[in-house]
Amino acid sequence: MVQIGSITVSPPLINTACAWASDLEQLKALYASPYTGAVTTRTSTLKGYNETSAYGVVFTNTSTSSLNSYGYSPFPLSTYIEWVQEILTAVNKPVKPVIMSITSSDAEELGQMISMIQSLRVGPFASLIAVELNTSCPNVSSSSPTGYIPSSIRPLLSTLSDAHMQDKSLTIGLKLPPYTHPAQFHALISTLEEFVRQDQNPFAFLTCTNTLGNSLLFPDQVYGVLQNDDQAEFALPTATGGLAGEAIHALSLGNVHTFRHLLHDENNTSSSRKALGSISIIGVGGVTTPAAYARMRKAGATVVGAATLLGKEGVKAFEILSG
Ligand SMILES: Cc1cc2nc3c(=O)[nH]c(=O)nc-3n(C[C@H](O)[C@H](O)[C@H](O)COP(=O)(O)O)c2cc1C
Repeated sequence: MVQIGSITVSPPLINTACAWASDLEQLKALYASPYTGAVTTRTSTLKGYNETSAYGVVFTNTSTSSLNSYGYSPFPLSTYIEWVQEILTAVNKPVKPVIMSITSSDAEELGQMISMIQSLRVGPFASLIAVELNTSCPNVSSSSPTGYIPSSIRPLLSTLSDAHMQDKSLTIGLKLPPYTHPAQFHALISTLEEFVRQDQNPFAFLTCTNTLGNSLLFPDQVYGVLQNDDQAEFALPTATGGLAGEAIHALSLGNVHTFRHLLHDENNTSSSRKALGSISIIGVGGVTTPAAYARMRKAGATVVGAATLLGKEGVKAFEILSG
């Protein structure tokens, strides 16, 4: 059992935001599984995302890995709010939380989205609904992942921090892109430190990592929904997309490990830095076996997530991971 902010995750295994946590039936099945300790919704925007036939996912034929070109969910946040309410209301005394993954590059719009979620977090639902800001989708050409650009993430964090000031029970997390060099980790940590007020840090968790953008596979390397086209030059119509699964496992483990150490750096005695020690890490990336699940925990994740295995195996993925 793991406590993250005001939510309790038990067992510490969850699905992360993905195309297989997109509609009501998928979310209901994930919620009903005894092997998931929380359910994360696919990332939604205020108005819904225009999904075209260029978007899709393929699986590699040499390992449990995937490449996808999806942006965000076609369903708007308002639809997820209705669905989450339906799922939680259908259960007598629900205990399993839902992490609502949302995104916006506009601080004001994000504030509107948080208010919508807050209207659902009343009574017993307050400790059953958390928010995860997706700062890391690599597939949206019009907007670069804010998690890579401290100046663009700051106004969004300010909105989230204000919401937390008004309601300390609001559990807020950030979905981060995979980082590859120290300056990226330090930049994020310093930015988070700016939001510590009176030794209180508004952010409860970091989810590491999202997919690795700008990756490319050829048709003979994959199977999956887009392979039917014999003429296809690349595995995805967009050519490049976000790589996930076993192909990024080592990188995701490294991100979890690095954040774990930076958040608990005993040599840094500043009070703002110490306040960041309360941040939990949800480790995701290439968790496809019980051994990989154990590795994520060993690297420093308190909760472990999976997406590619869910796409490959369905909800049974979480039973497989439980060993
Ligand atoms: C098809 C697909 C869709 C995804 N959609 C989202 C999304 O909407 N929001 C998000 O934060 N991450 C999204 N992800 C990233 C996953 O949550 C996860 O971070 C990543 O795939 C690494 O985990 P894995 O190796 O278990 O797949 C998606 C991944 C896949 C494969």
